[in-house]
Amino acid sequence: MTKPNRSLPSTEQLRFEKIPVVVFNEALEASLEIAHAIATAIKDKQSKNEQCVLGLATGSSPIKVYAELVRLHQEEGLSFKNVVSFNLDEYFPMHPEALQSYVFFMQQHLFDHVDMQKENIHIPDGSIDLEDVSAYCKRYEQQIEQLGGLDIQILGIGRTGHIGFNEPGSGIDGKTRMVTLDHLTKKDAASDFFGEEHVPRKAITMGVGTIMKAKKIFLMAWGESKAPIINKTVEGALSDQVPATYLQSHPNTVFYIDEAAAAKLTRYETPWVVGDCEWTRELIKKAVIHLSLKTEKPILKLTENDYIEHSLAELIHLKGPAYNINIDVFNQMQHTITGWPGGKPNADDSKRPERANPAKKRIIVFSPHPDDDVISMGGTVIRLCDQGHDVHIAYQTSGNIAVFDEDVIDYAEFVCAYHDAFSMEQNKSEMMFNQILTQLKSKAPGQIDSPEVRQIKGMIRRVEARSACRYIGIQDSNIHHLDLPFYETGLIKKKPIGPEDIGIVRKLIEDVKPHIVYAAGDLSDPHGTHRVCLDAIFKALKEVKEHDWAKDCWLWLYRGAWQEWGLDEIEKAVPLSPGELLKKRRAIFKHQSQKDRPLFPGIDSREFWQRAEQRNKFTAQQYDKLGLAEYEAMEAFKRFEF
Ligand code: F6R
Repeated sequence: MTKPNRSLPSTEQLRFEKIPVVVFNEALEASLEIAHAIATAIKDKQSKNEQCVLGLATGSSPIKVYAELVRLHQEEGLSFKNVVSFNLDEYFPMHPEALQSYVFFMQQHLFDHVDMQKENIHIPDGSIDLEDVSAYCKRYEQQIEQLGGLDIQILGIGRTGHIGFNEPGSGIDGKTRMVTLDHLTKKDAASDFFGEEHVPRKAITMGVGTIMKAKKIFLMAWGESKAPIINKTVEGALSDQVPATYLQSHPNTVFYIDEAAAAKLTRYETPWVVGDCEWTRELIKKAVIHLSLKTEKPILKLTENDYIEHSLAELIHLKGPAYNINIDVFNQMQHTITGWPGGKPNADDSKRPERANPAKKRIIVFSPHPDDDVISMGGTVIRLCDQGHDVHIAYQTSGNIAVFDEDVIDYAEFVCAYHDAFSMEQNKSEMMFNQILTQLKSKAPGQIDSPEVRQIKGMIRRVEARSACRYIGIQDSNIHHLDLPFYETGLIKKKPIGPEDIGIVRKLIEDVKPHIVYAAGDLSDPHGTHRVCLDAIFKALKEVKEHDWAKDCWLWLYRGAWQEWGLDEIEKAVPLSPGELLKKRRAIFKHQSQKDRPLFPGIDSREFWQRAEQRNKFTAQQYDKLGLAEYEAMEAFKRFEF
């Protein structure tokens, strides 16, 4: 049976959810539906000779909606001549031609590709004088009203619960106005501006009141980073501290979200609280782990009463007694633990996560950026090398965008000093150094580096990665720098992956013919690079999967630098001793350009080694709490069938 592409709440689930939510398998499917609803509204208005008034959003959420609208225009003749649009917001101050402006965003994703009339496009102007802002906002509001209000408003949601830039504290009847951005919103925007310090402090935004007058509202949210705020907005109390909760009182709002964003809704997180469940092995494991952590009791000490008092009476009734359920889940967890991540030679492997044979395996560890390998699975790589496997590391991208200009200056200076010290011919390098210095001194934040500077930045990351590899025991000939072309835009926004990227990954896989592939299954990195890199691996593996050697190849996903698998998802947990953890930390230190303060820290401002250690220790502590052995730290993996 194929899985339905969407899930609607049952009547019981609606007890918890105060806004209609449709959950889709994929953001793309949801985006297509929204685009088609917009297209229908446009055509409907056309047939009546009326204008269609759209409220538009920017950010990562609506990109696929715009792409589909552009396709409908180009391939199916959908005309936008009768569309009048009002964008939600714009940074202030902001020049319309700046790369970060919402004017630029809208042109790039929609307006440059459809037949909208210029005079029908409205985006708050971030370049007006401060004293004109208030009158300007009033006019913006009046223009919407004069057209009879917004027919459809599309929205994303910020982690603060903002809609538009209506941050916590905004009132339900607020109008278009100037606002100050929340610090979390500035953090989220930091990578677009190459540093939080360059993000404007203010913005002009439509008010919640303006949005609430829209006749129909679609709110979109994709990815696990949105899961907590979606839960608060949909199930929490209406509150000015989460402005999106105001939508609970809008008569025609629907949330279109993907499964990752839905993960913290009660119907997904603890479905047994909502009603009867289909008790699969996975769900039983999830429920028991949840119960054990909630009651703070090891799995083997859980009693019938614990189950009954925590909405799990049905489970006991169908699969009990508690003793049997406990033993089964305990054993499942026990069997995830292995100190032999490449398989234990000459051992019975029927209850182990990895095969015993062949004893020495060919392994490729794919690392999207040049440091994800050590950050996410450094301890496991150390073990794989120590246990004699043939381990290859493949850096998928150059990572050049994440190097500070100061580091380039230091290295260029080193080259000059080197030539000087050894009385070598130095004219060329000195000239280059001076050129680079002038370029970097006059560079505005976010401006694209010259190809030479990008090359130097890439080289810096290569040198660091090789040093880390050497430290953990990888031979030079097993280090592969793939420099996938999709990444090389010099901008945060990358090109989509193409056949060339997939071909490069495929070639390496064909050359090595691995028994094991490790890849980053981290779906929440701030720029989507991990997602794209994983996609390239999936596609390459699919292309080779008919070969005999590929049939024996297992794919394990580590989670990446930002998140860890849930305990119930882990299928292989590799314990690390205090010594191994220290060695892993030192390997991460080799990535000097990312230390102290990485250029793109994401939403967590700690250093990468701190995050990695905290995460690995936390996993070990959780295993301990479930009543399993107590380790210093653990790295976790999930197997993926391709
Ligand atoms: C953008 C806007 C914001 C975003 C929100 C989510 O015009 O008003 O409210 O919708 O910050 O941003 P993304 O979609 O990038 O996660």
